[in-house]
Amino acid sequence: MRSHVPTVLITGANRGIGLEHARAYAAQGWRVLACARDPARSQALVELQRSYPEQIEPMALDVTDHAAVDALASELNDETIDVLLNNAGTFGPQGFPDGMAYQGLEQMDYEIWRQILEVNLLSPFKVAVAFHDHLARAERPLLVMMTSDLGSIAQNTQGKSYAYRTSKAGLNMVTRGIAQEWPDIIVIAMAPGWCKTDLGGDIAHIETKDSVREQQRTFARVTLEESGRVLDRFGAVVAW
Ligand SMILES: NC(=O)c1ccc[n+]([C@@H]2O[C@H](COP(=O)([O-])OP(=O)(O)OC[C@H]3O[C@@H](n4cnc5c(N)ncnc54)[C@H](OP(=O)(O)O)[C@@H]3O)[C@@H](O)[C@H]2O)c1
Repeated sequence: MRSHVPTVLITGANRGIGLEHARAYAAQGWRVLACARDPARSQALVELQRSYPEQIEPMALDVTDHAAVDALASELNDETIDVLLNNAGTFGPQGFPDGMAYQGLEQMDYEIWRQILEVNLLSPFKVAVAFHDHLARAERPLLVMMTSDLGSIAQNTQGKSYAYRTSKAGLNMVTRGIAQEWPDIIVIAMAPGWCKTDLGGDIAHIETKDSVREQQRTFARVTLEESGRVLDRFGAVVAW
């Protein structure tokens, strides 16, 4: 029998935090199911695949397309997924801070709010449910929802960013709920910190690869007792 290579499925693996996770897991010998809306259009993902042809498997997936999520889950039917990283997310058409302009009290773009909820809240729920069986086969299954400190109700001392904040607060609730219903799967929400990506912007404090390194350390040591929690990259509980 072929021995199992640890496998991670990452949504939004073509840039930012998702791409760095793909790179770091591949470097450690993992198999990476690297999902992206249009994998061939990401030069970085194409190059990563060239560097790790045996490990990086680019897969087309728009997470808001539920039929496509189901189709990919069927296509990967026999696979065991050790880590499912629900990473794809959006602040709307613009990153931070410019994207605050369409999600404030006086200038809310309701269509953008709907899209943000679709990507950040409904989609990770859909992906988690569709891939439950793949995860459940793993020896130590881990489901990660990429959340944000901006989703913390306890930490909200400034208002603003209503669309993004509500999407991540909702995702935290989904995380808690799924953890109750799937007692054999470690389910956490990860707050990666403010990272320099298209979404985080250049003024962010943290290099993406540094956050990813800490996140992966946390993923490796988190236990079932911590399931349902929101953790920061170092593994500390985030007040929510
Ligand atoms: N950067 C930060 O400071 C920060 C802080 C807290 C939380 N986060 C969270 O971390 C995650 C990754 O963010 P990031 O900073 O890496 O942002 P990013 O660089 O803007 O990347 C976002 C990723 O999500 C993908 N995506 C968006 N909509 C999608 C869809 N419908 N289907 C599939 N993929 C889709 C994008 O793909 P396309 O290239 O096709 O658009 C891209 O790969 C997000 O959930 C974000 O909310 C980030």
